[in-house]
Amino acid sequence: MHRFEAYLESHIPHTKSFHPHYEEAFVAMLHAGGKRFRPQLILSIVEAYEPLLYDSAMSVALAVEMFHTYSLIHDDLPAMDNAELRRGMPTLHKRYDEVTAILVGDGLNTDAFLLIAMSPLRADVKIKLIELLALNGGSKGMVLGQAIDCYFENKPLEIDQVEFMHINKTAKLIAASLQMGAVIVDLPHDIQKKLYDFGIDLGLLFQVQDDIIDVTQSEIESGKTIQNDTDKNSFVKLLGLQESLEYANSLAATLEKRFKSFDAVMQNALQDVVNSYLYRHKN
Ligand code: IPE
Ligand code: IPE
Ligand code: MG
Ligand code: MG
Ligand code: MG
Repeated sequence: MHRFEAYLESHIPHTKSFHPHYEEAFVAMLHAGGKRFRPQLILSIVEAYEPLLYDSAMSVALAVEMFHTYSLIHDDLPAMDNAELRRGMPTLHKRYDEVTAILVGDGLNTDAFLLIAMSPLRADVKIKLIELLALNGGSKGMVLGQAIDCYFENKPLEIDQVEFMHINKTAKLIAASLQMGAVIVDLPHDIQKKLYDFGIDLGLLFQVQDDIIDVTQSEIESGKTIQNDTDKNSFVKLLGLQESLEYANSLAATLEKRFKSFDAVMQNALQDVVNSYLYRHKN
């Protein structure tokens, strides 16, 4: 992922103006790092199947990371999770103000689509990528999940409703990233679908693990405000830590089996990035 970090450094949108901190605020949270999980999913597939397209795919990976970063900046706002720390630095509304955090989120969201539109890929491929990002990140995906997450604070949901929420707020963008990788390298529709479905369960596991992180990790380890889900319908809140760990482990076990049903090229491509999320919790 060194190439992606270098690409990000040189292609992050910079906008000079007489605003005192607009330009700095726009790039701050992208610079701050994070795991780059979604770009890695896209780029691992491209590297394995069409390495010549790797450079062209980097703008798509950056677009998805920008979109994800927008969702985090808005997620941290006082009206949503009211968090002070993100990616090891003060959240944008803390460092600057709420207006800045809202607008930087808006800008990253919009510019993500611009980046895909301008990427050096085939026009039909770009339209499909834009469709996938919008469909999974918008009103029928991440935004819906976030709406449910915030509306049902202090209103307990059933476990299948929490799964629905997690699938929308987190899993769909992860599933879309896998499919976007497959779209860039023109893999057949059935493989795209299989990857997407696998990504939904991988993303659900990712969010369950994120719920676990909220109660088990320190701020230093996670880089974000922790013990912050007390009013939320998190897995840990609903099932308790022990049962959440068991749930995560059994989901990881079924995902491990499903992973083995992909062909050798795909397994090789995704092994490193996926395996780190299929680890078993000790309980
Ligand atoms: C955090 O996402 C929010 C969730 C969807 C769980 P990440 O855990 O991918 O955050 P970064 O990108 O590493 O900061
Ligand atoms: C956020 O979930 C998912 C998004 C779509 C941003 P969380 O609220 O659990 O994410 P963290 O724990 O703040 O990173
Ligand atoms: Mg949240
Ligand atoms: Mg949050
Ligand atoms: Mg969380």
